[in-house]
Amino acid sequence: MKYIAVIGAGTMGNGIAHVFAQKGFKINLIDTQPAALDKAISTIQKNLDRQIAKGVISPADKTNTLSNITTFESIENGVANADLVIEAATENSNIKKSIFSAMDQFAKPSCILASNTSSIPIAQLAAATKRPGKVIGMHFMNPVPIMKLVEIINGKDTTLEVTEAIVSLTRHIDKIPCVVKDFPGFIANRILMPMINEAIYALYEGVSDAVTIDQIMKLGMAHPMGPLQLADYIGLDVCKNILDIMHEGFGNEKYAPCPLLVQMVNEGKLGNKSGEGFYKTTAVR
Ligand SMILES: NC(=O)c1ccc[n+]([C@@H]2O[C@H](COP(=O)([O-])OP(=O)(O)OC[C@H]3O[C@@H](n4cnc5c(N)ncnc54)[C@H](O)[C@@H]3O)[C@@H](O)[C@H]2O)c1
Repeated sequence: MKYIAVIGAGTMGNGIAHVFAQKGFKINLIDTQPAALDKAISTIQKNLDRQIAKGVISPADKTNTLSNITTFESIENGVANADLVIEAATENSNIKKSIFSAMDQFAKPSCILASNTSSIPIAQLAAATKRPGKVIGMHFMNPVPIMKLVEIINGKDTTLEVTEAIVSLTRHIDKIPCVVKDFPGFIANRILMPMINEAIYALYEGVSDAVTIDQIMKLGMAHPMGPLQLADYIGLDVCKNILDIMHEGFGNEKYAPCPLLVQMVNEGKLGNKSGEGFYKTTAVR
């Protein structure tokens, strides 16, 4: 694989583009919002500067990495030469299904179509294409340049050849693949999101304040970040969308998002990316 298209230039898309470009792949970064593309490039520049300051890469590596990324506003142009497309757009099944249908239409027949979805069944996305055997989940963790795990999700039709290609590519970019089956939320979010939702319920019911809830989980469970701080970091809209998908997918009330989370998302309090969530933050991507 040489050419990789990344669809969605938000929190995850810019990280995925960064990691592959740094490894020498040619990246087409696609977003319908020009402002998102500009922000993604400036975020990648800042993150590369941080790597230079830490002595992890040289200034020449930064130049090479940036020169490997080209931005596009249309899927049609952006996926044309791709060997692999990684979709990292908004966590909404209708949006993703229409993107998968467009990817299928405009990418080469040999191209593998991957999704960074946190929770949407791969089977649903595969059904929007005429190549279900070439559709797979490639779930990166945030922040992508730092986190080692990639949860790889086999759809019911994903071929062994495609799984092996994605496992080997994951190792090539120095990440660790963990292969799982296709259930809502897979493993990572099936376990993480109920914990975050429960922390929000504890706040909602006034059991304690956000700082204390997070402190208890950090000090008591050795978590590097408290669940509310982590929710701000992930994005409260993303957390709510994942819970909605598990709620609907399993038909189980235990996954229903806490009313406080729903209210905050409706008020535009999305966490770090909007500047306010459970904590007041500087808006960052
Ligand atoms: N935020 C996290 O911590 C995290 C972690 C792992 C996986 N994910 C998953 O990654 C995906 C992206 O999440 P994010 O947090 O980066 O979201 P985000 O809101 O930061 O970015 C999404 C981007 O997708 C773009 N987009 C929407 N529709 C599009 C279209 N039709 N074509 C092209 N671009 C389009 C938006 O303009 C936006 O820039 C989601 O599926 C999410 O569940 C998120």
